[in-house]
Amino acid sequence: MSRSKFSADSFLFSSLQKRQEQNALRKLVVNAGLIDFCSNDYLGFARSKKLSKNIAKAYDKLSHSNGSGGSRLLAGNTSYAENLETFIAKFHNAEAGLIYNSGYDANVGLFSAIGQKGNTIIYDELIHASVHDGMKMSSASTYAFRHNDLKHLEERLKIAEAMPNGRQGIVYVAVESIYSMDGDYALLKEISRLCKKYSANLIVDEAHATGVTRNEGKGRVQELKLEKEVFARVHTFGKGLGCHGAIVIGSSLLRDYLINFSRAFIYTTALPLKSLITIHEAYQLLEKSESELKQLHHLIAVFKKFISKEASPFLIESYSPIQCIVVNGNEEVKKIAHLLQSKDFDVRPILNPTVPKGKERLRICLHAYNTEKEVKELSEKVNDFFEKKMIEK
Ligand SMILES: Cc1ncc(COP(=O)(O)O)c(C=O)c1O
Repeated sequence: MSRSKFSADSFLFSSLQKRQEQNALRKLVVNAGLIDFCSNDYLGFARSKKLSKNIAKAYDKLSHSNGSGGSRLLAGNTSYAENLETFIAKFHNAEAGLIYNSGYDANVGLFSAIGQKGNTIIYDELIHASVHDGMKMSSASTYAFRHNDLKHLEERLKIAEAMPNGRQGIVYVAVESIYSMDGDYALLKEISRLCKKYSANLIVDEAHATGVTRNEGKGRVQELKLEKEVFARVHTFGKGLGCHGAIVIGSSLLRDYLINFSRAFIYTTALPLKSLITIHEAYQLLEKSESELKQLHHLIAVFKKFISKEASPFLIESYSPIQCIVVNGNEEVKKIAHLLQSKDFDVRPILNPTVPKGKERLRICLHAYNTEKEVKELSEKVNDFFEKKMIEK
């Protein structure tokens, strides 16, 4: 008994020590109240007093409950949840939707359920960890294609087609519409054309496009009018909508399938009513947030404009609120982030192994509530590092 405890502890200890040696030890830090250039709260909904008031008002009107009391298939279902799914699906111009407790759960629940034996999932190499975890739980064959590389995707699609069971098996292609750690857009039009050519089913994770795109934050698929070309979309509520949870939208058939086969949906307690009300109110506020969206996109342009000629080759090309400066090495990127934090800018370093070695980065998130002055000052500080040659290839 004590021997196995000893070996478990020594395993934990040596794993952590290895991380420490790689300068990649993850630690929880409490938000120090600096200027927010780090959260995914792009429109400021997570801190919105107006939204809090709307939620409280809506909650007061309904009979109160603290928890949902069970999974959706047992005691945890309500007409409120079903109506909300219909409302969100309609907002996103889809037939149906199914709410999950988080975006992580949605991706795990979706990919593990559709990835049956004989099927193939082809994914962009930068796809989110939750999709990877869903694929690991599936029995499908999985293949990465180089980021946004259409030629490589087509090669993968051809291989899937030529496989002995390729034609009987179903092929899925998984991308993010705005990549979480790079901020760039997927080439959705071109990718959807390839999917059509090879009869593959496109799945788009819209986590960082929800509440961000100029079409009332409806996401890139709707912006490009690709709703009919997409098999499923995942919209998360924890980023631009400032609350928590996620929805998978697609056909009613997909919804019925997930209710029956998606373990991350079936075997968990449903979100409480208060969370559902929060999601509903956030969507309603989104419909009235034109000026915040305009301000957000204005600040993105301001940031890009003020980044110097020396710094811009290190800026990953992006028109989204996620602007990343590549700083080679965990130690270097941590040092630069700490310097920015010491000047009151809450910018966090993204380390290897979250991103590939040599591609460590400062991930700067812009928000509608940042001021133009703050954004200019931050870009000047970033430029300074390049002038002083503190960031080099
Ligand atoms: C692209 C992407 N998909 C899914 C998720 C998971 O969403 P959630 O935070 O709601 O679990 C994230 C969050 O980091 C994400 O960036």
